Amino acid sequence: MSQTRPEFELGKDLVGLEGLSAETITGILDTAEPFKEISERAIKKVPVLRGKTIVNLFYEPSTRTRISFEFAEKRLGADTVNISSSGSSVVKGETLVDTARNLEAMRIDMVVIRHASSGAASFLADRIPSNVINGGDGQHEHPTQALLDMLTIRDRLGRLEGLKICIIGDIVHSRVARSNIFGLRTLGAEVAVCGPRSLIPVGIEELGVSIFNHVEDAIEWADALNVLRLQLERMQTGFIPSLREYNRVFGVTRARLEKAARDTVILHPGPMNRGVEIDSAVADGPQSVILPQVTNGVAVRMAVLYLLAGGKPGGAEAAKQEIT
Ligand code: CP
Repeated sequence: MSQTRPEFELGKDLVGLEGLSAETITGILDTAEPFKEISERAIKKVPVLRGKTIVNLFYEPSTRTRISFEFAEKRLGADTVNISSSGSSVVKGETLVDTARNLEAMRIDMVVIRHASSGAASFLADRIPSNVINGGDGQHEHPTQALLDMLTIRDRLGRLEGLKICIIGDIVHSRVARSNIFGLRTLGAEVAVCGPRSLIPVGIEELGVSIFNHVEDAIEWADALNVLRLQLERMQTGFIPSLREYNRVFGVTRARLEKAARDTVILHPGPMNRGVEIDSAVADGPQSVILPQVTNGVAVRMAVLYLLAGGKPGGAEAAKQEIT
């Protein structure tokens, strides 16, 4: 009996990594590889998305994700428009769907959305024919962040399968943690989380992760640590006694890294609270890949845009050779 191999299958939208096959996630990471080189050119532009119109609809603040998407879109030759809630008719009470339908009426092709509500990206994707990419929705998922994290770990350590990755910090509020857990586990990594119990979701073990209560144990165990920001804006009261206390008990410090038997790779999705979840000596130190993460973000987003526009995995090298 012949066995069918699962294939690359992305669909119309990228709302999350949950449910994507290993072939699909690997296909996106592999597609990002040839796109890395475009950002190193003197003229950073290829016509892969020429004629496409993309709207970046950001209802929450963002530095890395919004600018990285905009660079990716422009370097692939798309026309882009940035919309923030404060500068749009959202402040007059317009709904998300009405905003999107009005954009559709202007014949757009893709929307990148960041929104404070979990589920906003799939809500939109179900209602408009344009491709929708989730740039982070509430506490649900942030798929392109996890993809760039995985690409960066793969760059540094040569593989993902069989690696031990620990996500440290504010897990309960983190869409980055959820997307990393889904993506890394699908690609065969072992995943753990570490933090105060008040910041770890009840039942997280059901996602196939283990829990460390002590940051020292997590550092000793992990090949890579993904250090998350304390999302103070999402905390009402009582999650941690104080920022100083958090740094004392859970901070990723140089002293703690020096005690470990090996050089764990350090990631942080940003923005960082220096001196809280991570010390500057670690963030700027030799084990840190925090800036390579940002660089890889552009290539990963190029890959996602190219694939959602109908590009084939493996076709990126040829596509980027086209003459502008
Ligand atoms: N990592 C990340 O999502 O950063 P921004 O909030 O700056 O986009």
